[in-house]
Amino acid sequence: MGIVFNEKSGEFHLYNHNISYLMKILQNGQMGQLYFGKRVPLKEDYGYLLESRYRPASAYVFDDDYSFSLEHLKQEYPAYGTTDFRMPALEILQPNGSRITDFKYVSHKIYGGKPALQGLPATYTEEDKEADTLELLLRDDLLHMEVTLLYTIFTDENAIARSVRFENKGSEACQLTRAMSFSLDLPDDDYEWIQLSGAWGRERHVKTRTLQQGIQSVNSTRGASGHFHNPFVMLKRPTADEFQGEVMGLSLVYSGNFLAQAEVDTFKVTRLMIGINPFGFSWCLEPGETFQTPEAVIVYSAGGMNGMSQTFHRLYRTRLARGCWRDRERPVLINNWEATYFDFTEKRLIEIAKNAKEDGVELFVLDDGWFGSRCGETSGLGDWWPNPERLPEGIRGLSETIEAMGMKFGLWFELEMVNRDSELFRSHPDWIIHTPDRHASHGRKQYVLDFSRDEVVDYIYELVAKLLREAKISYIKWDMNRYITECFSEGYCAEQQGEIFHRYILGVYRLYDRLNREFPEILFESCASGGGRFDPGLLYYAPQCWTSDDSDGVERQKIQYGTSYVYPISSMGAHVSITPNHQLNRITPLKTRGDVAAFGAFGYELDLARLTAEERELVKEQIRFVKKYRKLIHTGTFYRLLSPFEGNFTAWMVVSEDKKQALIAYFKLLNDVNREYRRLQLQGLEESFLYHMTENHAEKGSFYGSELMHIGMITTDASAGEVPRNEEPCCDFWSKIVVLEAENK
Ligand code: DGJ
Repeated sequence: MGIVFNEKSGEFHLYNHNISYLMKILQNGQMGQLYFGKRVPLKEDYGYLLESRYRPASAYVFDDDYSFSLEHLKQEYPAYGTTDFRMPALEILQPNGSRITDFKYVSHKIYGGKPALQGLPATYTEEDKEADTLELLLRDDLLHMEVTLLYTIFTDENAIARSVRFENKGSEACQLTRAMSFSLDLPDDDYEWIQLSGAWGRERHVKTRTLQQGIQSVNSTRGASGHFHNPFVMLKRPTADEFQGEVMGLSLVYSGNFLAQAEVDTFKVTRLMIGINPFGFSWCLEPGETFQTPEAVIVYSAGGMNGMSQTFHRLYRTRLARGCWRDRERPVLINNWEATYFDFTEKRLIEIAKNAKEDGVELFVLDDGWFGSRCGETSGLGDWWPNPERLPEGIRGLSETIEAMGMKFGLWFELEMVNRDSELFRSHPDWIIHTPDRHASHGRKQYVLDFSRDEVVDYIYELVAKLLREAKISYIKWDMNRYITECFSEGYCAEQQGEIFHRYILGVYRLYDRLNREFPEILFESCASGGGRFDPGLLYYAPQCWTSDDSDGVERQKIQYGTSYVYPISSMGAHVSITPNHQLNRITPLKTRGDVAAFGAFGYELDLARLTAEERELVKEQIRFVKKYRKLIHTGTFYRLLSPFEGNFTAWMVVSEDKKQALIAYFKLLNDVNREYRRLQLQGLEESFLYHMTENHAEKGSFYGSELMHIGMITTDASAGEVPRNEEPCCDFWSKIVVLEAENK
């Protein structure tokens, strides 16, 4: 396992058991890309993979050579305009107005482990043997600018993390106008492109298209990763599916404006890249300064899309998420938002908590409306002290009451925002992001605080930290409910205005980091009007994220299914809410709502007192079940089996590491009648283990792993044939969870 440099051929080979990544110093000193994919042998020379021939209408670098053209050579970190005409990975505006650069290999360093990235979230190692890192130093001698390409290959994961550091060693300032984190030229275009896109209430739906000549991309220009596209893209061979075939997933550890793009050229070479969105971006790099890009992670799977997701799940759950909550079982919570919205009293909150405690809930979360003058959307944001009319005992008193009941207490914040009608805005009207002399647009009657300025972040930190020091707060839901418009900061000069989106996100990270450090025991859940900032960047600070405001059990199947392409099950906040559902008025059975939410960080978002006695019994049973199996659900290997985007059924399962336990969740959208007999082929079991179906399910019986995987588990339900009187009837929006326990081996 490791990284090898072959001096004679000028080639680098990064490898572990399963994957190889090959690069070469090109004839002109720039870095060329040779191969990324399934492991190939260590060999002195893979130079035959460089293909560049004379082609009419191309341009060539060397006077006496009609073959060396960057338009045809695959590259590591391409620039525009020196014979390559495709979209580049970097662009630097220089004092004389030129944007032409020439970064040549200078030296490299190879070492065990992985460096942290200053001010940015990133994957990490706990021991040096977990990964190897290569730093490739390139220099443009005319500009005196250095670029360091960082590559980390993980020993036991089929993943490579990349990022780039710029350093201005010259005597004049330059403007970075494009600084992508990752670029890879693939030799062909025989791929399907899969993106996770949607909107508020239907985040991360799976969208597929065939790669075509030209540019295809997803991006954000909103100041956050956004509801609309996730900073992730997958390329899969058309014949690959969930269980087999070649798949690559590319994910950006970043929460701001991003671009993920594939450009297929006329010779079917696919240039895949991801990084900060160059639209509207520039960064003034003064002499002696450095700029670090966010990190990109590419995962290779020869075992289909599930294989790719399982690598992301392990890596992001154990080597991106941090802190004591990374490995702890997550508390079953109740959140008052959908139970009360802004209309609550302390008494009502305590009643909600008491009922929840009776049923086994462990954490009570007080959502929006507890602070300043906040009794609705229009006022109070920014004034992070309790409203004495609503909470006579303050947050401290309420948190102590909840703790005395034997529950933990959690609190909602929206730290990046301010209402005009607030003490904060009245004292610091210039602290919002806005363009001088222009109209400032609102979103939900609120404005974005200028987190690119340290003094704003510091003020908010002190305010929140004071409260956290006084009260017993075990959990924070950090919300963010609008995007950035009229982007401009009064804290920076004209040349630096292109930096504000990025500086804003650095400010968010800085605040998270300070709170993580001073309050390491607090569990953070990020949120942005549901899942509008569900990205790897925030997972570094908050190991769980509110997946969507749409908590209907049917809609959530699609949302959680799509989210599972990249993000671990432990990261998906998933709650059971009331029916008719508040987002789409659907009446989905309580059982189904619970069965879907069980595959996430589980909780309730309703007043349990409004349920019938029978429903309360089911709630108790759901909580018992989740407590018993949450460790398995959060740390087991997750498999998607049937896609809600493709038919009437959704199915997924988790298997424990030792393969002795498994849970299979099976959902039916609409009931049907007199239908076929059905079987579901399971995954990841041990062929020779005898599994017993346990728990209180209609199915009983024992089956070998091989039977369940090759023949399949019988999923025929009452809809096959006339409904027998003694069989559990099926209905619309129906669900089942089957538990498998292997006989003691
Ligand atoms: C949006 C969140 O997604 C909701 O869960 C809730 O916290 C509201 N904001 C409160 O304003």
